[in-house]
Amino acid sequence: MSRSAHPAGPRHADVLPEGHYSAPADDLNALDEKVWSRTVTRDADGALTVGGITVARLAEEFGTPAYFLDESDFRARCRAWADAFGPDADVFYAGKAFLSRAVVRWLTEEGLNLDVCSGGELTTALDAGMPAERIAFHGNNKTVAEIERAVTAGVGRIVLDSFQEIVRVAHIAQRHGVRQRVQIRVTVGVEAHTHEFIATAHEDQKFGIALADGQAAEAVRRALSLDGLDLIGVHSHIGSQIFDMAGFEVSARRVVQLLAEIRDEHGVELPEIDLGGGLGIAYTSDDDPREPHEIAKALSDIVTRECEAAKLRTPRISVEPGRAIVGPTAFTLYEVGTIKPLAGLRTYVSVDGGMSDNIRTALYDAEYSVALVSRTSDAEPMLVRVVGKHCESGDIVVKDAFLPADLAPGDLIAVPATGAYCRSMASNYNHALRPPVVAVRDGEARVIVRRETEEDLLRLDVG
Ligand code: LLP
Repeated sequence: MSRSAHPAGPRHADVLPEGHYSAPADDLNALDEKVWSRTVTRDADGALTVGGITVARLAEEFGTPAYFLDESDFRARCRAWADAFGPDADVFYAGKAFLSRAVVRWLTEEGLNLDVCSGGELTTALDAGMPAERIAFHGNNKTVAEIERAVTAGVGRIVLDSFQEIVRVAHIAQRHGVRQRVQIRVTVGVEAHTHEFIATAHEDQKFGIALADGQAAEAVRRALSLDGLDLIGVHSHIGSQIFDMAGFEVSARRVVQLLAEIRDEHGVELPEIDLGGGLGIAYTSDDDPREPHEIAKALSDIVTRECEAAKLRTPRISVEPGRAIVGPTAFTLYEVGTIKPLAGLRTYVSVDGGMSDNIRTALYDAEYSVALVSRTSDAEPMLVRVVGKHCESGDIVVKDAFLPADLAPGDLIAVPATGAYCRSMASNYNHALRPPVVAVRDGEARVIVRRETEEDLLRLDVG
């Protein structure tokens, strides 16, 4: 999540404060296609449109703040991942990034599988008709009730994350007279280059069973010995928002080595490996994500090479992209409220949402970009911090960015690339009402998750 320091001289002020921000774009009205979803353009009047609808119309019909999700972009990204990996591999969309019944239907139609990690996600998936055999069930502390539901629904795989769970799932499966297909999640010991809170393959964290001290080999021994389990493979997820393929390559190599050790010890060649999700997307113009076909080629080359060296049959590969599919497909639309220029510092632009609809800036120091979208402007760029309306000074949506100096209350601004982990991590802090998600496609917009209402708040508060 690094970004270069300001490389060029400021154009709008004599002095700019310390900070990590890029020079303002030559044209603040230009839309960098890396960070906006595919059908986003500006119309003749300068207003941003998505799926052929202007933001002014969207704001009028659905209000702000709101997330607008470009359905055809979402579907295109699903297809790009499925095509890149081909018929001999499986793509599981990671539902934690954003899940709703409409999304489940799109995934089902586009041929993707689904990774869920809670009873709530499982319910949403099953309710919207995702076939259970296309669902993988994850989590480091699945409850007995969740495991029961997953087993009885017939999920395609449960990813085992601890020794207790190996026994728990085996007992539950046996009680229901089934052999549950399972994978074991291993911790491969890779330091992924990402924020500490979203790195998961180093040893000192809660996920998976470590390869390094023989724990993973012991987990395999136990899983193979239990009648209720059908061990189909090994799983590794190294973290999230990663650009460098080196971590995935090390992970793939170590997972294949484990398969070779399993073959040598037990005479069994496990048929599958899952390399997790975690591929980075562009939040700002400085980010350069890989395309799905490059990722697929890099992963399949390394697995094939390592398997040849170990004289193993190449296992079926699966991956679990969440952010890389849904992240770029949505933007958050806000209305500008108050504007406070702080001399010698920056201008604080307050919007009608904040950390309750995007906690990522506060939690991970995430970087976002922002644009004035209800009109174009030829005014000079001004350095801004886009903040929310919550009672907290860390309530920042975009830490450092440039907007035109004639920005005024009532203008609409949009933050792109908010499809992943924004609505799914949204909160009711300060009794904020969580914004709706509106799907836009071919000139039509429809609410797929409605805005929360004050009645919703009062309904939960039983008095
Ligand atoms: N598979 C497993 C086992 C995972 O734990 C995750 C994400 C994924 C797949 C999908 O990762 P993705 O492709 O979306 O990066 N809230 C954080 C991200 C947490 C990711 C948790 N696990 C954020 O907003 O950056």
